[in-house]
Amino acid sequence: MLSGQTRLAAVIGDPVRHSLSPHIHNAAFAATQLDWVYVALPVAAGNGAAAVAAMDTLGIDGLNVTMPHKADVAATLTHRSDAVAKLGACNCVYRDGDLLVGDNTDGDGFVSALLAETGSSVAGMRVAVLGAGGAAKAIIDALGRHGAENVLVINRTEQTALQAASLTPVAYVASVDSVPTADLVINATSVGMGADRSSPVPASLLRPSQIVADIVYQPRMTTLLAQAADIGATPVGGLGMLIHQAAASFERFTGQDAPLRAMTDAVEEFLS
Ligand code: ATR
Repeated sequence: MLSGQTRLAAVIGDPVRHSLSPHIHNAAFAATQLDWVYVALPVAAGNGAAAVAAMDTLGIDGLNVTMPHKADVAATLTHRSDAVAKLGACNCVYRDGDLLVGDNTDGDGFVSALLAETGSSVAGMRVAVLGAGGAAKAIIDALGRHGAENVLVINRTEQTALQAASLTPVAYVASVDSVPTADLVINATSVGMGADRSSPVPASLLRPSQIVADIVYQPRMTTLLAQAADIGATPVGGLGMLIHQAAASFERFTGQDAPLRAMTDAVEEFLS
């Protein structure tokens, strides 16, 4: 029951009405019996800094940030995690006492989801990352921080690949032909999303010993994941990263452990 005491968290973006974050976070608040509510706020491009300023004006206690505001918000915050400083992208603003602090939970969300779903840590792994956009960069940075042996960055546009590979000393630019050498293959492009049934990797380059992860979660079984399953590799879908980045935000907002089961159930119920 909402009351005068209810605390507010939100996601800003444009578009944002389709966001799954309100479903995930409100389920988490219900499961933990916290008197919080989470809403989606459409905020036009260029107004990200004003939205952060409004956190103080309106008493908003947690903010997630999505397209097109991640860079603007990263630039406006004086207190921010190393990941935000390096990536120039912020997806989570929370309070630490009187301070507003920016973090980027996407990369750690991927690493946590992989551990939860496969029991495998990325430490010591050889990883091939397809893509070099915002999501790929967050993952590449996290792979470096969590001890991957090396990270091959494979992207359609080489210049972007070079920028992404500069995020961590263990990363370098490679071609798709190097995919068979990886322990973990990650699709961090939008290839395979929605009605697109294409795969970013020819099936002949996948190996049964590999973990093959996709950040795409609609459809849940992308063509890449089906290729991986067909040859006996371990497929990992994109929902885990979505849920674990939300869990990391929840923990920063509230200071409590995230109820992962309830958050997962909420997403599965919504998508089914
Ligand atoms: P996000 O923030 O979701 O990561 P993005 O920053 O726009 O989105 O990055 C999209 C990534 O998917 C990029 O690596 C892009 O490759 P380019 O750098 O060459 O643009 C990649 N991508 C998108 N569509 C693609 C396609 N049809 N084939 C190959 N790569 C594609």
